[in-house]
Amino acid sequence: MRVFAIETSCDETAAAVVDASTRAILAQQVYTQLKEHSPYGGVIPELASRAHLQRLPALAAATLQQSGLAWTDIDAVAATTGPGLTTALLIGSTFAKTLALATGRPFLPANHIEGHALTPHLTNPELSFPYLLLLVSGGHCQLVMVENVGRYTTLGRTLDDAVGECFDKVGKLLGLPHPAGPAIEQLAKSGNPTAVTLPHPKNDASLDFSFAGLKTAVRDLVANRKHPLTEPEKADLAASFQATVAAILGKKSAMALKQTGARHLVAAGGVAANAAVRAALTHAAAAHGAAFTAPPLSLCTDNAVMIAYAAGLRHLHGLPAAAPEGLAARVRPRWPLEDTIPA
Ligand code: KG4
Ligand code: ZN
Repeated sequence: MRVFAIETSCDETAAAVVDASTRAILAQQVYTQLKEHSPYGGVIPELASRAHLQRLPALAAATLQQSGLAWTDIDAVAATTGPGLTTALLIGSTFAKTLALATGRPFLPANHIEGHALTPHLTNPELSFPYLLLLVSGGHCQLVMVENVGRYTTLGRTLDDAVGECFDKVGKLLGLPHPAGPAIEQLAKSGNPTAVTLPHPKNDASLDFSFAGLKTAVRDLVANRKHPLTEPEKADLAASFQATVAAILGKKSAMALKQTGARHLVAAGGVAANAAVRAALTHAAAAHGAAFTAPPLSLCTDNAVMIAYAAGLRHLHGLPAAAPEGLAARVRPRWPLEDTIPA
């Protein structure tokens, strides 16, 4: 089952070809819209749409060429139809529908979160259902029990900011370029993670997350100073912030492992690229006799491989992609994972 997929839900323009039956990645291209958005310190939807429009045709052609395949070798064309930025989703899915129509292939709409949830399988053949997923990205922060393809239970989600968003906002306060996650990780290397005591959320017994208090604490710390932060002070704050986030994620994951008895903890999303976060999750899993995995970095951040794989896997399991199906599929800027569960 060879699937050609497009992902344009936010600020990555991506295309890929994946054989979902053999779990082989046949081609993969990603354009990360850093230069478009970094001057503004955040993603500007109109600029994202324009960059998708400009980049997609050449990127899609390069992806097919990289796969060494012809359209006659492709079984289906997929695209992310949600959740995400409305116009960005419309551009990618309309492009993919047009390809499907022109090549006579079926169009498969795909849920972005389901892509993140299933991708760990692609690179870790040892991983078996069920497993506990911690999805930590710029738009999402949730703990999900992945019982099988198309069967998910969300155990906890963020009540305010997503964790990547919190990294980005704290980075902005420290004068770092957007997206600030990698820059905070870099800066934290020269800082002391115990230098600054930052608050943990009060909802301790729940599996939901909250990062607004942590962000506000950093903002107040920076605002209440009489002189601008020195470089060593910035590094200490970055290291302390990163350590606090890692501890919160580790603690909630440990609680979820205990509650569910899951044998495997999997992390996905851009923040799963962070080494301190990975270390905290490895520790949490080990304490509960569970294994920890995260996809390679290129598959943690947004990509089209995960879209091709999730769409293909659903198709192989005989699950409808979404209602309405095929070319009639609509974009859904909000599309909770639970809504992908077949009736
Ligand atoms: O999964 P992703 O590429 O896009 C979304 O679906 O949001 O995640 C992007 C987020 C950004 O907020 C970025 O700052 C964060 O992931 N991120 C990191 C790291 N790399 C990316 N956060 C912390 N440490 C990193 N190394
Ligand atoms: Zn994502």
